[in-house]
Amino acid sequence: MAATQQTAGSSARVGYPDFLRTGPGTLAGRYLRMFWQPVAPARNIEAGRARPIRVMSDDLTLYRGEDGAPHVVAFRCAHRGTQLSTGWVEGDHLRCFYHGWKYDASGQCIEQPAEPEPFCNRIKIRAYPTREYLGLIFTYLGEGDAPEFPLLLDFEETDYPCDVSYVEWPCNYFTQLDNAVDPSHTAIAHWHFNRPIPDQILVEENECGLELIAVADQMNKAPSYVDMPNAHEWGGPPRGGKTMWNYARGWRVPIDDYHHMRLGIEAVVASKEEAEQRWSERGDETQTPNEVAESVLKGFMSPGELDLEMYPGPSMTNIQDYIVLVGLGPIADQPPVEHLGKEDVGVMFMRKLWSRELQALADGRPLKQWRRPARLWKDVEAAARAAASQDTGS
Ligand code: FES
Ligand SMILES: [Fe+2]
Repeated sequence: MAATQQTAGSSARVGYPDFLRTGPGTLAGRYLRMFWQPVAPARNIEAGRARPIRVMSDDLTLYRGEDGAPHVVAFRCAHRGTQLSTGWVEGDHLRCFYHGWKYDASGQCIEQPAEPEPFCNRIKIRAYPTREYLGLIFTYLGEGDAPEFPLLLDFEETDYPCDVSYVEWPCNYFTQLDNAVDPSHTAIAHWHFNRPIPDQILVEENECGLELIAVADQMNKAPSYVDMPNAHEWGGPPRGGKTMWNYARGWRVPIDDYHHMRLGIEAVVASKEEAEQRWSERGDETQTPNEVAESVLKGFMSPGELDLEMYPGPSMTNIQDYIVLVGLGPIADQPPVEHLGKEDVGVMFMRKLWSRELQALADGRPLKQWRRPARLWKDVEAAARAAASQDTGS
């Protein structure tokens, strides 16, 4: 694929469909809405509470019934339109704060207490299939019936500790997807990994999206995957800045065209205590890494002044990625001019996959049915167990 050219102010990279804009009715927004998407960490919403969420430029209401079941419904009440998240959860239902109209979990209005001639049966707000899984709340925001829910059995069934991470970044979600298939930056921006610059980047399409292997010094590195359309998985043995075998998956979900959520799950092949120590160093649910990265972007400090003692492995990685990705600017309005080379083969490959699928969607042609194997990381777990038994001599 040829290097791309841009026109200042264009909303997409020339030569590609617009991946960047995902609001209702946009092509990329229609595509992303065809898949179950995580929209919040489960721990962020208590039973009996409602809160507003924004996903792909759509405002919505997330609430948990008093029995704990999560639901996603429209943002506004159908009566006069106030914000439903300010209302009361009653059982599995949501009552509007303004005049008390009450909705069940399917969005059907079931009470209009101040209305002398109730017409509930004619009032229904949108409600979206919602499910809690692996510590995250997933919603299907597309048209028609939801597709089969994709299970991740290697995270669900592992004996090892798993944890959820969540953070919001002020940049377009697609920057994160580009970054996921860019192993060259790992050697440069993430200096603390001590990884060599790849001699070769091998990338190929597979059943879930693409597999990428960065080869350096004739040594194969652990593969990583893009799980189409917007998840990334990686894992393997300990490396610099990382002290344990792990495997992890991150979803990059647009909040709007200028912000996105990074939702992740990670399994660490270690004891509970060791894993908790690692996660306590991550710091990515506090604002600290974002604030540090912002101070670098504003010129108050340089990336070289970042201290690995103060920001251990995962926290340092987040700061570095924030600097480079937020540093790309608001690309939905003005993509930076790019001059892609061979080091960008992963980026070009993934954009090509996305282009193919978006073009098929635009033309009404069949889309590829992506299927992640239910157990993607069984070899990593097996290798970690073998390494642990060698260490202990058992
Ligand atoms: S605006 Fe919700 S009941 Fe009136
Ligand atoms: Fe990175």
